[in-house]
Formats: sequence, C-alpha cells, structure tokens
Amino acid sequence: MSVESCTEFLLSTRDPGDLAQQLKAMTGLEEIVLLGRRNGYSFSAKELMAASASLADGAPAPARPGPPPADTSFLHYEYRIADLPGFEPVAAELPRLKIRPPSVDLAELAADFREEDMWSTSLSPADPRFRAWYRKATAEPARLNGSGLPVNRGFHLVNLDEHVAHPGYGDYLAAKNRVVTALERVFGGEVRFSGSLWYPPSGYRLWHTNEDQPGWRMYVIDTDRPFGDPAQSSFFRYMNPRTQEVVTLPESPRTVRFFRIEQDPEKLFWHCIVNPTDRHRWSFGFAVPDDWMHRLRLPA
Ligand SMILES: [Fe+2]
Repeated sequence: MSVESCTEFLLSTRDPGDLAQQLKAMTGLEEIVLLGRRNGYSFSAKELMAASASLADGAPAPARPGPPPADTSFLHYEYRIADLPGFEPVAAELPRLKIRPPSVDLAELAADFREEDMWSTSLSPADPRFRAWYRKATAEPARLNGSGLPVNRGFHLVNLDEHVAHPGYGDYLAAKNRVVTALERVFGGEVRFSGSLWYPPSGYRLWHTNEDQPGWRMYVIDTDRPFGDPAQSSFFRYMNPRTQEVVTLPESPRTVRFFRIEQDPEKLFWHCIVNPTDRHRWSFGFAVPDDWMHRLRLPA
C-alpha cells in the first residue's frame, strides 16, 4: 500500500473514461479505496487523504462559480420529484439507494447522540449563544473511529458511502451509477454525487456552511414512510445571509431541493438538517451545473 500508488490512481481518473465516470458516484473514502483495489491500485483511506491533499496543492484553484442566475431573494427551490422532467429514472432508483447497510451499528450511533448538539440547531448561527457553543464544541479533541480517522461531531447520521463491506454494496453502487447517467442526461453536463446520507430517527447534521465546496447543490430526499403528521417531520433549516432570518423547511418524502453554497464571508449559507422523528430519512446530494434551472426548463 502506498501514497504513490494512490497518486497514480487519482491521476488516471482525470482522463475521461470508465474510472472517471464511476468516481462521480463515489463520495466515501472506503469506496474509492475499493475502486482502486479493483483496478490494481493498493492504498488505504489515510493514503488516499494524503495523495488527494498533495495533488490539490499543485492544482490550480477551482474556478469560482459565477453569480446566481439572478439577484433573487430565493435562496432555495423545492420540487416534488414527480414534477421534474427527466427525473423518472432517478425516482425509480430510490428503493435501491435507500439502503440500511447491515454493517451499520445503530446502537453505537444512538450512543453518540448529544442533546446539546441537537439543541444547537434550534439557535441561529448569528446568536451569541450559538457562537459560544460552537467555539467550545470545535475546541474539543475529536474522537477517532476504527480506522484511526477523526469523527466529525457535526454528523449524527450514516454516510452510506463509508460502508462497502456488505452484500448490498454492489447493487447500491450500480444504482448510483445509473442515477449519475440519468442526471447527466437531464442537465446536459457533469453531475457528481456530493453525499449519500441516511438519517435514522434522531439523526442530524449540525449547522455548517460547506464553504470549501461552492456551487449549486441538489438533494433528493426520501423517507421510509410518510410522516403521520406533516407538522412533525424532518426539516432543513438555513439562515438568510443578508437578513439573518432563520428559515425552516419541513420536509415531505420524494422531494428535490436546490440551494447554492457560497464562499464569500458575507454570503455564507449556514444550514442544518434534523430528523427529530421515528422515520428513517435519506438524502442524496449532487453538485449540479450553475444553469440547472435553465436545463430543467423551469420558470425562474
Ligand atoms: Fe451541507
């Protein structure tokens, strides 16, 4: 195993082809390690991080995205997946994407639940109480997982792409690849997964900005069952960077949401996701082209 082997692998994925296409469906270290191994490259998750960092050092900075399509007060857009043209194949794959890998230890996840972390999502990121909590939380040393990598406290959920050692992974990966193909047809440009997340009951993603990955993001959201009471649902919450108004979006199954991640310190898009219900929630994130709305031929 070596960083050199990993660097060689990563460079080979820069050429258009099957490897590059498969990589668009992958966000987890472990599945990229597995993809490398299946193609004759041997490296660990730690070596993958080291190789990615060294390649990024020498690479030109990614182009900053252009301005939003219009100076609009809309910071998010939501649709029912059934209403989006060309999304039929994506909707059809949802049952194969919404997996619960048997390698996930839900009891261990539940033991990591922290009430004060969940509470932090009820505050505005502009609230001094949030700032104080955030400073304290980020100063605490991170716990290490079984691979010796730091556990990000901001995620109380399951990253499906970090679970490759279960019998269903092959079918799940094949479904992700088909979704990339379907979405590239819809958007007429490159689409890649940005995260495949399972939020079991009481799952959450704490306030964050994703400022290191600017651009438009699309999330396909679904649950195991409809919410009994629409007022008791999972939700997406964000802060309007201009007005500092906190907006909470109650969720329904089979929804597609778009929002834009900014890097400008004045425009950071603080957001969090909480599933305070007994339902299971999944969200599949994608980096989509800036002109996605035009591509979908939707009215702005
Ligand atoms: Fe995010």
